[in-house]
Amino acid sequence: MFEDLPRLGAGLGYRTPLHEQTMAAADEIDFLEIISDQYLYAAPDKLDRLLALRDRFTLIPHGVGLSIGTDVIPGADYLSRLASLVERTGAPWFSDHLSFTKVPETNVDQLTPLWFTEETLRVVCRNVKTVTERVDAPFLLENITYYAELPGAEMTEAEFITRVLEETGTGLLLDVNNVWVNSVNLGFDPYEFLDSIPLERTVQIHIAGGKEIGGMLVDTHSEPVSEEVWGLLDHVLRRAPVKAVLLEWDQGWPEFGEILAHLSRSREMMAGAAAGENAA
Ligand SMILES: [Fe+2]
Repeated sequence: MFEDLPRLGAGLGYRTPLHEQTMAAADEIDFLEIISDQYLYAAPDKLDRLLALRDRFTLIPHGVGLSIGTDVIPGADYLSRLASLVERTGAPWFSDHLSFTKVPETNVDQLTPLWFTEETLRVVCRNVKTVTERVDAPFLLENITYYAELPGAEMTEAEFITRVLEETGTGLLLDVNNVWVNSVNLGFDPYEFLDSIPLERTVQIHIAGGKEIGGMLVDTHSEPVSEEVWGLLDHVLRRAPVKAVLLEWDQGWPEFGEILAHLSRSREMMAGAAAGENAA
C-alpha cells in the first residue's frame, strides 16, 4: 500500500528560529516536516515563504489540530485548507496524531490521549474516512505520549493502534521517543510494544529527546536523542520499510552541527538496516 512512496531519508522538523542554519545546511537535510496548523490560516506572505522551501526540500505537513478522536466530523473548512496545503506543498503524505485536541466548541490545545474503547475506535475510523476522502495524499497517524492510563479501557494502546491501522488503511508515523517515554512512565517493555503493532505499516519515524521532570520522563524535544531511543529506531528500521526518519527538536537547540550529526546517524542506520548489516 505504501511501497510506492518515495524514500526520503533523514529530515528535520522545520522551525523558523533555525531557518538560516537550515537553508545553509540544505545539502545535509533530506526533507522538512512543517506544522500544518501554522499555515492553514496564514497570511499570503508567510505561505509564500513556506512554498519557497520547496525549491530545496520535500515538505511533509504534520498537523496538531485535526483532533481525529473528537466525536465531531472534521470541519469542511479545516479539511479544504489542509487539502490545499498538501497539494501546494506537493507532499507525498501528511500526518496528524492519534489523539484529540478539542472537544466540541473548545480547543484544549494539548495532544490528549484517547480512551481505548470500541466507541472511540468507531469515531476515529469515521473521522479518518472523512479526512482521506477530502485530502488527496496518504495519511499517517502518530502515537503520542501520555502520563497516566485511563481507567475503563477496553483494549491496550497497541491493540487500539493495530485496530485503527487495520480498519482505516492509514499508515503509521511511529514516534519511537514517545514509545520510550511511555514505556518508562507506564512501566512496559518498549520492544514488546513495537513487536505487537503492525510495524510494516510504518512509513515515517519521529526521533526526539526528552528529560526527567518531577519524576516523569517528558518528551520535551529539547535534548539529544537517547541511546535507548536510537536502539528502538534500529529495531524498527530492521523490521519495517521505513521511508523517512524525522528529528523533532523544538527548544534548547544545540549547535546546528549536533542536529546534523543526528541526521547523519539516522541516515547511516537506515542504510545499515537496508543492507542487513548487524547492529553497531
Ligand atoms: Fe512526534
